[in-house]
Amino acid sequence: MVDSGAKGVSAWNDRTNSYKNAEFDIVIDQAAQQGRVFELAGLHDLVKHVAEGYHATVFAYGQTGSGKTYTMEGYKYKVEQPGKAPQAQFECGENEGIVPRSVRLLFDLIKQQSNLQKKKFTVYCSYLQVYKEKIYDLLNKSHVKGVVADGPGLKLKWSKNDVFSVENLYTFECKTVDDVMALYHFGIKNKVVASHNMNNSSSRSHSMLSLTVEQVEVSNLDNVVVSKL
Ligand SMILES: Nc1ncnc2c1ncn2[C@@H]1O[C@H](COP(=O)(O)OP(=O)(O)OP(=O)(O)O)[C@@H](O)[C@H]1O
Ligand SMILES: [Mg+2]
Repeated sequence: MVDSGAKGVSAWNDRTNSYKNAEFDIVIDQAAQQGRVFELAGLHDLVKHVAEGYHATVFAYGQTGSGKTYTMEGYKYKVEQPGKAPQAQFECGENEGIVPRSVRLLFDLIKQQSNLQKKKFTVYCSYLQVYKEKIYDLLNKSHVKGVVADGPGLKLKWSKNDVFSVENLYTFECKTVDDVMALYHFGIKNKVVASHNMNNSSSRSHSMLSLTVEQVEVSNLDNVVVSKL
């Protein structure tokens, strides 16, 4: 049972014959569409902070089939050939999820900021996948399905100031929303999508899209701020 007003979720527990309750900062009910989820989850402010030079993370977690991929992507998956992994249908209109909405908003906000503040913004994109404890580059053409499952993966490095980075991960400069979306869609096609009983288009992996925003003051090129979404 979901109660968005009381910010609570209750689930019946057969063993104790009672409801188990959980409370959250926000609870969004089943009827909410993607645009409403974007709004209620506070994505606008989060993306705005990134355009202003702060880091932000959107993290979707939950049981298989609970809707993480749907919420982040919003794409429909169709089995084009029996026995083959389902393919994403990238035309999804109002159904589009948090990622495409965030990318568009980020570029809108950057445009506004660069007009107002005489700053030059550059956006970089990378997209990786963690599958069976190994890291793969979804934007590297050689990391295609099949090779991915058996490959050695990329190395994770921790730097002195507790920042982690992935060695040799491809990073592309993106000038437009379309540039990012083309990379995002390319990466989605590269994802390992394996079918299993609970969810036919299950990701069975973790994937991370990173957008790095570099802002340089036009009158003082040493003044550089880097933020990551
Ligand atoms: N809010 C929603 N409205 C309509 N359909 C949804 C919604 N959320 C999820 N679905 C559908 O439910 C199914 C499972 O969702 P999804 O693939 O997003 O789960 P997941 O959490 O990513 O699972 P996994 O961990 O296995 O990858 C999909 O067919 C998806 O289209
Ligand atoms: Mg998924």
